Amino acid sequence: MNTKIQQKENEIILAVETSCDETAAAVVKGGSKILSNVVASQIESHKRFGGVVPELASRHHTENITYIIEEAMEKAEITFEELDAVAVTEGPGLVGALLVGVNAAKAIAYARGLPLLPVHHISGHIQAARLERPWCYPALALVVSGGHTELVLLREEGEYEVIGETRDDAAGEAYDKVARTLELPYPGGPFIDKLAAEGIPNLDLPIAWLEPDSYDFSFSGLKSAVINTLHNAKQRGEIIQPEDLAASFQQSVIKVLTEKTKRAAEHYQVKQVVLAGGVAANKGLRSAMEEIFSSSSVELTIPPFNLCTDNAAMIGAAAHVQWKKNKTAGWDLNGVPGLALT
Ligand code: KG4
Ligand code: ZN
Repeated sequence: MNTKIQQKENEIILAVETSCDETAAAVVKGGSKILSNVVASQIESHKRFGGVVPELASRHHTENITYIIEEAMEKAEITFEELDAVAVTEGPGLVGALLVGVNAAKAIAYARGLPLLPVHHISGHIQAARLERPWCYPALALVVSGGHTELVLLREEGEYEVIGETRDDAAGEAYDKVARTLELPYPGGPFIDKLAAEGIPNLDLPIAWLEPDSYDFSFSGLKSAVINTLHNAKQRGEIIQPEDLAASFQQSVIKVLTEKTKRAAEHYQVKQVVLAGGVAANKGLRSAMEEIFSSSSVELTIPPFNLCTDNAAMIGAAAHVQWKKNKTAGWDLNGVPGLALT
């Protein structure tokens, strides 16, 4: 039997996140106050392979998880007796990576007789907004990460309705692939972002608008167009400035993301729009979103950089919603690589 929740205000949750290549733990109070937020990035280990190596990720998580949790508890200046629950990312993600966090969280919850709260990784990215300001519904979240590109409607607290998603590559994936073509290090998103700010978007690259009423996205055509543009230029002996290519690529991505978000916000008459996920760290996207919503009554929330990329504070924020809804997991909780949001 799992431990039941004793409802109270300002519960203190230890949250664990190990879905990909960041080992993270955080302590969050009442779903909005970060007491600690510790992230150990594995980027240096995966970099030389040009992407995340799942086995390597699992091994690093196993090595680091205990220290990261200890550090999060120390930084929060609380004891295990003061915790009200333990939360963990259940999925989606790499199964071997997820399992490390799930088992660590389960062990602590079991040993301390605490409720175990399962959290969807994307709900974590979305709920990072709660760490900034309270929600107002209906709300819309544009989730752009390495594995996901989705427009999610929230008619009420913790109710997620995916109204649009990518049909092929995620936005972050496209960034990383274009960066690899330009021989930039992994993960390429931040490098393209920096380069784009120095270039002129003077190359004609496609934008996949899809059907007029669709909120879906597609980035594989754009990615191929970038590769072809570079290849053709090379064959003709022409030189393309990498910063112009980055600026042109970024402009195409931002245009479709912002336009569809704006259209969905108007259609569903939302009161709040949230930008979430690793690509939300993109400076060009942040300022384009700010500009597009500056003249509207919609409240735009963009979490700070460190809460956009993978972290455990966002899992603690999302766990608050699970806490309020009494959504606990049993001791048979597993890592679910393809877990659906809705
Ligand atoms: O959310 P996240 O940390 O991990 C996933 O859940 O996927 O997102 C990682 C993705 C990577 O593809 C990375 O290149 C991208 O976010 N990213 C960026 C920027 N910072 C991170 N993409 C564009 N511009 C950035 N500044
Ligand atoms: Zn993520």
